[in-house]
Amino acid sequence: MDTHIKRLHDMREQALLGGGEERIAKQHDKGKLTARERMHFLFDKGEYEEIGMMVTHRSTDFGMERQKILGDGVITGYGEVNGRLVFAYAQDFTVFGGSLSETHAEKICKIMEMAMKNGAPIVGLNDSGGARIQEGVKSLGGYADIFYRNTLASGVVPQISAVMGPCAGGAVYSPAITDFILMVEDSSYMFVTGPNVVKTVTNEEVSAEDLGGASAHSRKSGVTHLTAPHDLACIEQIRQLLSYIPQNCEEVTPQQDYIAGDELRPELDKLVPASAQQPYDIKHAITAIADHQSFMEIHPDYADNIVVGFARIAGRSIGIVANQPMSLAGVLDVESSKKAARFVRFCDCFQIPLLVLVDVPGFLPGTDQEWNAIITNGAKLLFAFSEATVPRISVITRKAYGGAYDVMNSKHIGADLNFAWPTAEIAVMGAKGASEIIFRKEIKEAQDQTAKLLEKEAEYTEKFAHPYRAAERGFIDEVIEPRYTRAKLIKAFKMLENKDDQLPYKKHSNIPL
Ligand code: HXC
Repeated sequence: MDTHIKRLHDMREQALLGGGEERIAKQHDKGKLTARERMHFLFDKGEYEEIGMMVTHRSTDFGMERQKILGDGVITGYGEVNGRLVFAYAQDFTVFGGSLSETHAEKICKIMEMAMKNGAPIVGLNDSGGARIQEGVKSLGGYADIFYRNTLASGVVPQISAVMGPCAGGAVYSPAITDFILMVEDSSYMFVTGPNVVKTVTNEEVSAEDLGGASAHSRKSGVTHLTAPHDLACIEQIRQLLSYIPQNCEEVTPQQDYIAGDELRPELDKLVPASAQQPYDIKHAITAIADHQSFMEIHPDYADNIVVGFARIAGRSIGIVANQPMSLAGVLDVESSKKAARFVRFCDCFQIPLLVLVDVPGFLPGTDQEWNAIITNGAKLLFAFSEATVPRISVITRKAYGGAYDVMNSKHIGADLNFAWPTAEIAVMGAKGASEIIFRKEIKEAQDQTAKLLEKEAEYTEKFAHPYRAAERGFIDEVIEPRYTRAKLIKAFKMLENKDDQLPYKKHSNIPL
């Protein structure tokens, strides 16, 4: 018996060494953790159950039959994160550069299937040289098997991808299908074709970092949602992100302990400046409304004219979408519409109620926007809100103009409760623009055209630049003093806790992609 157990112990020890001490030291020298260290920090108390530790590849080409490493370059397993079940895999760069073989892919697929059957999130920690070059098409098949399962799992269980090293070629498409991508600054990159191919095809000279580093994808392409300065910070962000999200599409959002206190926020009464042209930071409203320090912003470096993220209200998670007057006056454009639409879709998949803070002057005009399909992209947000059946509440803080009023979770597209602050202006457009159009003739004929415009502007403001016309019609359910917003929202989300709403039967909808 002892010899049997010794054999097991020896094999385990061998597996734990991965590609060997030298390669582990190389990984550490690059400031990176090993795959097992990453798994250790992901799970509560560093505890997880590993599956498939003894798996090896089946390749016999290029002398590969003499190079078998237990585990075949990926650690797969399950454990608890914040006390809840999570499945994860971590690619081991010390084993054939974390490259993906047929068996490596099978291990990932197995863990994904287990996650789906058991209704728990999947976390992928990616660090890989891509397809295992010695295996050729078997490895490509392995990738496709993963993409297929990523797609089947989408909307069933949350999927989070961290890119913690190279991620190139078709390998980027697994993270791209998942719900959130995180990247580690200076040690990770993602691109479909690397700098060498780019140079050959387009003659552009670009570094891997500039082409597909964390900064490029968090600021320019919007591919990554969050970045972190190092591996540990990245893993901490994953743990935090998971804390807001239900385990699967049939669960409700997690409830954290919450002791009711003073819910009044008098500082909100002074948040909106007297002049409609003056900006203010909508994040002040978010932090005042949400539970203390509960706001986690997603996509902070991309399209910052809209803010999206998770927070808690009375202990329960919500998703927040808010126009940001500090950036481009909070206007909706191509990027902000896509960013918000994707976030709304995620929240709706996983039963996370939505709070929408509205201060929007409209859609951004211009050839750049029109030719980059603001029509299709703006429609994404409109569609995403219209289709969302989760509890949905809006608070209009200031402007809600034109089509953007409709799009930003208006009553007409299915919002459950629509509040407005007394500073809200719900109209087709701003008073100046409106007066210039509808009173053009009168203004032109006036002796003092400037005075006439101001007079007409004041008339229009008096008539429309307030929330009461919309409240008269029931488009606004209640005009509230800003200081009571949090208290109102606590009651409103509680009232909506058991909301049950269904879309008409269909195979699936056809969101304008
Ligand atoms: C097999 C690989 C490998 C791969 C790296 N290694 N990539 N083995 N298949 N794809 C091995 C190396 O031989 C080396 O082994 C070890 O991993 C570490 O690699 P280094 O090159 O020493 O590391 P580093 O200098 O950090 O460079 C990392 C790298 C580079 C930039 C990732 O290794 C690289 O360019 N690899 C090839 C990338 C690639 O072209 N992949 C195919 C992409 S196409 P030893 O034994 O020396 O430690 C693709 C298609 C997917 O992925 C399509 C899906 C639809």
